Amino acid sequence: MDMGDVGRSTATAPEVIRTDRLVLRTYRPGDHRDLLVFHGRSDVCRYLFNEPWDLAAAREAVQTRISRRDLVAGALALVVEYDGQVVGSVSAWLVDEPERTAETERTAELGWAFSPEFGGRGFATEAVTALLDYVFATPRLHRVIAQMDARNESSARLAQRIGMRREGHFRQNAWIKNEWTDTLVFATLRSEWPSGAWSDRVGCYLATSSVNCGTSSSVAHGTLRTLTYMVAAVRRLSVIHKSFPLAMTGHRANRVLANVLSTSD
Ligand SMILES: CC(C)(COP(=O)(O)OP(=O)(O)OC[C@H]1O[C@@H](n2cnc3c(N)ncnc32)[C@H](O)[C@@H]1OP(=O)(O)O)[C@@H](O)C(=O)NCCC(=O)NCCS
Repeated sequence: MDMGDVGRSTATAPEVIRTDRLVLRTYRPGDHRDLLVFHGRSDVCRYLFNEPWDLAAAREAVQTRISRRDLVAGALALVVEYDGQVVGSVSAWLVDEPERTAETERTAELGWAFSPEFGGRGFATEAVTALLDYVFATPRLHRVIAQMDARNESSARLAQRIGMRREGHFRQNAWIKNEWTDTLVFATLRSEWPSGAWSDRVGCYLATSSVNCGTSSSVAHGTLRTLTYMVAAVRRLSVIHKSFPLAMTGHRANRVLANVLSTSD
């Protein structure tokens, strides 16, 4: 089994990332109602490609995003919840190079949108930081970018706040909503991303499996690389969050992690 297999096997296993305050989870039918509340607003969509959603657009978007649950396979879309309420959405997708092979290192792009009702409390910062931690746990993921309309100051501030570097300002390179717009490009490399981000920056942890790899005996090289990375993260967390729920979900991946933890130094 290679990492491609791992990625495919997660397709039916919803991924959940927990931070101190938030839950990031894959999409479910019915999410369109909560998302429409802010994706239907013109101020939220001002600098997005799309117009504000109506009910039909919300249904269609959620339907599409339900299947985006595996970055290894191409894309991961997550709903962000605070205290049981949907406050935003984040996503990551692979930016394809035509000549890539299974061994090629990859670039991913991030997207985000949050409800203004919950703005100014650091929720987007916390969620996107956790997403970046997660993305950089993906094997062969080398670089992450984020792009936005240059007038989108709050989005640019967010990219900067989480530690991405502003790499470019393209002048009138995109024709969006009947006008030429400037685009800012932010990026960060795996080698630049603080390895302690899991605990040091937002105290987030991976609650259930991104590594739904069956039994430990079937763990192959690619999976082990991911597990090694995750074990390091879990170790840091277990120091800081004494109650890290390693065995709480009873999920197979957690059991695999528990096995690895108990046999590694
Ligand atoms: C981009 C967007 C997510 C930013 O939202 P935001 O509320 O500014 O971001 P956060 O939730 O991280 O909050 C950060 C703000 O809260 C403050 N804050 C309060 N508590 C905080 C905490 N614990 N951690 C970090 N920031 C905190 C920060 O100082 C910051 O305020 P400032 O920008 O005035 O300095 C939001 O404007 C949005 O969804 N826009 C519409 C969609 C969009 O354009 N998406 C981007 C497409 S490229």
